[in-house]
Amino acid sequence: MQNIITPKTEDPRQQDLYWQGHWYYSLELEPGEFTPGFDHGNVFLTRSALKNVPVAGLSCLDIGCMEGLISILLSRRGAARIVAYDRIPQPEKVDYVRQKLRAEFDYRSGFPLSRLADKVSEIFDLVVFSGVYYHMFDPLAGLLRARSFLRNGGIMLIETAAVMSDEVCNYFNSSGRFYAWQNYWFPSLAALDYQLRFCRLKPLDVFYFKQESKAQGLQLCRVCIPCLAVSDVPADLSDTWIADDYSGDFSELIDWTRLQSDRLTVGYQTKNQGLIMRADSGGIDVYQSAINQPQTIASDPLNNVRLTLSAKY
Ligand SMILES: C[S@@+](CC[C@H](N)C(=O)[O-])C[C@H]1O[C@@H](n2cnc3c(N)ncnc32)[C@H](O)[C@@H]1O
Repeated sequence: MQNIITPKTEDPRQQDLYWQGHWYYSLELEPGEFTPGFDHGNVFLTRSALKNVPVAGLSCLDIGCMEGLISILLSRRGAARIVAYDRIPQPEKVDYVRQKLRAEFDYRSGFPLSRLADKVSEIFDLVVFSGVYYHMFDPLAGLLRARSFLRNGGIMLIETAAVMSDEVCNYFNSSGRFYAWQNYWFPSLAALDYQLRFCRLKPLDVFYFKQESKAQGLQLCRVCIPCLAVSDVPADLSDTWIADDYSGDFSELIDWTRLQSDRLTVGYQTKNQGLIMRADSGGIDVYQSAINQPQTIASDPLNNVRLTLSAKY
């Protein structure tokens, strides 16, 4: 299958323009005919987590949707409403895919995440924030912005590159020591756990696989963490710092009051064995849970990174 967009640049440093000219995903549009994208292992983690969410009837926001693989899956599983957003504008490709696959989602693109609230006023039952965090130079702000679209009682799936460490720290990608292209901060699993709680997200589960990188002594991984949006900070009782009322400082990023909801808590059911719960703060200990269980392995590696015509998960 040919690209339907003329490539504007071959320079990977101009990533946004690059993706307007190339397919990101391999999507089956006709039997056996795939768009000329790439195999992205990370999306398999997000898909694994998504299996555990009862998507039918939910309102969903897919942040960083590219050509819409996740949104297509949400549509196939009967989501009531889907908003697919990306700062990279690719309307021709997305229109083509939506029409070919009869997927129903509302596509918004071409502006930064910081302006999404100007365009989308509603809050959602499910927010997918997959493959975006480590691209942001201000990831904690990005996480709070993503959280600002999720009602309390809803589920967030966050997927990112991370460092398998229990030291609470974000590693900077100086000299591209982890990855090339526009990637800035790689959180340790412990830092991600803490930042999620800071954003009133209780980690429920973990999917991961290890990745090679040039960074000496630091084990890189991809990780997806399904979280429940809660009204209070799910912190250890001894941690008085995290529960300080800092919310005024972030009022331009999030308004906690509008996230209250009477709707039922979205269910989440995992089959993962060996998750380690945190005694007083609730939810799982992300680092301990990850090292206590095997990597998430695709049973059908090719079809788990591509999207086949019949795939619902
Ligand atoms: C690796 S792709 C992930 C695509 C998809 N969500 C997935 O998991 O397969 C990275 C996505 O992050 C988005 N992105 C990168 N930097 C961003 C930023 N600073 N603000 C908002 N989105 C950003 C890109 O537009 C792109 O959609």
